[in-house]
Amino acid sequence: MTEQTPVTQATASKVPALPDAQTVTQVQHWTDRLFSFRVTRPASLRFRSGEFVMIGLMGDPDPKTGRQKPLLRAYSIASPAWDDELEFYSIKVQDGPLTSKLQHIRPGDQIILRPKPVGTLVHDALLPGRRIWFFATGTGFAPFASLLREPETYEKFEDVVITHTVRDVAELEYGRRLIENLKADEMMQELIGTENLAKIRYYPTTTREESPKMGRITTLLEDGTVFRDLGIDGISPETDRAMICGSLPFNLDIKAILEGYGLEEGANSDPKHFVVEKAFVG
Ligand code: A2P
Repeated sequence: MTEQTPVTQATASKVPALPDAQTVTQVQHWTDRLFSFRVTRPASLRFRSGEFVMIGLMGDPDPKTGRQKPLLRAYSIASPAWDDELEFYSIKVQDGPLTSKLQHIRPGDQIILRPKPVGTLVHDALLPGRRIWFFATGTGFAPFASLLREPETYEKFEDVVITHTVRDVAELEYGRRLIENLKADEMMQELIGTENLAKIRYYPTTTREESPKMGRITTLLEDGTVFRDLGIDGISPETDRAMICGSLPFNLDIKAILEGYGLEEGANSDPKHFVVEKAFVG
């Protein structure tokens, strides 16, 4: 079950007490390891869908000086560039310096958000192509939650494949529901186009709990299962582009697989066939 807490007038009107403070408007807990939340967006913040910002809270007071320092981590913005608010998707690490505290935020609370977006998972870092692959594990889904709601994704590509590998079925829920709502939402149908939304091919897999598709995406690529399931011939530098976001070992494994197909890693300043970013953990 998920829990959703709406913002109220009373909680939303707290006076800012932090540098770069933004107000939490919504919090949703997906599992005991995952939650998502929305915050107000600074009027001056411009970003490209897929980028990340530093967010956090004030740390504990220094035992000697009593002074508090901000505790910040990189978080992909899960909402698209056109959204009025900012959305984030986070793991909860019980002894993690930031997420052990961040998991307790409620609507009306404030977080710190440094308004300096950066990142490589942006359309500008890829050459034109026919198909885009988004490869995610865990909270690495976040930048793709942004890019899937970004009209440019569909203007640039004919085929949009999103793979998400997680441990248990419940860990798919944020992504599964986001895609389901995206396809059903009238505003999104108008903004992106029903025929464009039909380009999305969602390929969720689990590794530690039974589900319709089990196994690591790396294995399913290597043994050809993904291609058979999706009716795709394979991956080639002529037609395919990719963005990767997950744990470091995952990123390295997918990168090696893509390089095996002849794809090369690109950057903002040097667009090529695929780009990689590490999902925030801890
Ligand atoms: P596995 O259960 O086999 O470790 P985590 O929750 O630890 O971040 O992992 C998220 C998902 O990513 C899990 O399903 C995990 O599979 C998978 N995973 C972890 N490392 C890799 C990797 N190197 N290649 C492919 N999938 C991976």
